[in-house]
Amino acid sequence: MQRSFVVNCLLLIPLIAALQAAALQPTPVRQADAGCARCHEKIFRSYLATPMANASGLAMVKLRLGTFVHSRSGTEYKVTARNNQGTLSISQAS
Ligand code: HEC
Repeated sequence: MQRSFVVNCLLLIPLIAALQAAALQPTPVRQADAGCARCHEKIFRSYLATPMANASGLAMVKLRLGTFVHSRSGTEYKVTARNNQGTLSISQAS
């Protein structure tokens, strides 16, 4: 028995959603560039210590929690983590 075109399209929706979710997951630098380390071990190790290597990748890996108040504007920035999700909240300090 042959399924209709509409049924076939509906069956593809969960697959497409799963592929999109996977594509949105960034790869940590340590993992993404690991292939280079096979031949460039020393460069790879020193690169991992650079601000650039630490500026990209998963935010939760090196998330620094805390609060900062910009005194001139009275704006408070707060970085918190919950259920493996980071949140930046901005509010007006009193
Ligand atoms: C199979 C071994 C191997 C792997 C894996 C490898 N490289 Fe190389 N790479 C070399 C060799 C050999 C050279 C040439 C070195 C030379 O000429 O002194 C080189 C040269 C380079 C150079 C030029 C260096 C210079 O001073 O001119 C860069 C940049 C580089 N590689 C980056 C990478 C990056 C980024 C990756 C990972 C995506 C990578 N390589 C993976 C073997 C490798």
